[in-house]
Amino acid sequence: MSDYIMEVKDLKTHFHTKKGIVKAVDGVSFKVKKGEILAIVGESGCGKSVTSQSIMRLVGDKKSEEVTGEVLYHGEDLMKKSRLDMQKVRGKDLSMIFQDPMTSLNPAYTVGTQIAEMPMIHEKKGKKSAWNRAVEMLTKVGIPSPAKRAEQYPHQFSGGMRQRGVIAMSLACDPDLIIADEPTTALDVTIQAQVLDIIRDLRDETGTAIIMVTHDLGVVAELCDRVAVMYAGKIVEQGTIEDIFDRPKHPYTQGLLNSVPRPGSRERLKPIEGQPPNLHDLPNGCRFAERCPFVMDQCIEKEPDLLEAESKGHTVACWLEEEGNNDGDRGNTEGRGTEKVF
Ligand SMILES: Nc1ncnc2c1ncn2[C@@H]1O[C@H](COP(=O)(O)OP(=O)(O)O)[C@@H](O)[C@H]1O
Ligand SMILES: [Mg+2]
Repeated sequence: MSDYIMEVKDLKTHFHTKKGIVKAVDGVSFKVKKGEILAIVGESGCGKSVTSQSIMRLVGDKKSEEVTGEVLYHGEDLMKKSRLDMQKVRGKDLSMIFQDPMTSLNPAYTVGTQIAEMPMIHEKKGKKSAWNRAVEMLTKVGIPSPAKRAEQYPHQFSGGMRQRGVIAMSLACDPDLIIADEPTTALDVTIQAQVLDIIRDLRDETGTAIIMVTHDLGVVAELCDRVAVMYAGKIVEQGTIEDIFDRPKHPYTQGLLNSVPRPGSRERLKPIEGQPPNLHDLPNGCRFAERCPFVMDQCIEKEPDLLEAESKGHTVACWLEEEGNNDGDRGNTEGRGTEKVF
């Protein structure tokens, strides 16, 4: 058996629109191990949500939505499953948490009923035992008086509690992989920290793997084991949390790190100048070239491939990393890190 729960290979999601083809996801590949928390991070609009929705097959059914590539889940390609089989997978072994809890909660039913529905549908549990499971899950996510709360409607919950309710729902059938799309973005900072704690404890207790989609490097640093940095529909760098935070190679990753406060650092923040390219009118070369402080001729001409950097599993798509472009001055390349450059 493979160590990987999920292997995404060359995923492309192109939207055919009046303006042209929007290449929202354009050749994304990554793997997730059992019990691992993988971050997908990048600025707004870079294709993170479309990536997660494509994996869950929440896009791809319409004529205008063209999804290609493979999404191997326990070795089986989700892209090849029938709609019905996909429904069986969704919510049971593989579940998703959205940014806005009201996307998942129906205001017309009690929170308990909605959580209990999952084991009733997917595990054919009886009403009573499913309800008990719902209360157990609400307890697990730290909701006080869970039995009483289970009988309440979503509007009787605060925002943070609703998101806990949604997490409880996603856990109700013991999934082995959860895709969480900006699960804390809509919450206050203190509640955000509590929800991240819950997610971390969950992984530690149950070994559930998590794909954490976020624009927030703080969340990544706090929670994740590995990181995939996305830019304009592509992964531009991938590695362990140490690879990305201590030895970032891609100028975009470096730029992202320079634009957020670092604990203990008194350096001025430097936002990345300019805007990401239009996804329906992409340049031929590197998509970051226009904003890159190290741009070279070759960057404009041809797109770099995602290749392994110094350490195993650390990959980067940047011409600066290619043979010949960094000969003899590795130290200098290192220097492009977060402290010295700008
Ligand atoms: N159904 C759609 N039709 C056309 N363009 C879309 C559609 N859904 C998303 N997009 C575009 O795809 C890009 C990526 O969006 P998204 O994945 O939501 O970004 P984010 O990284 O912020 O989650 C955006 O430019 C968005 O406008
Ligand atoms: Mg998004």
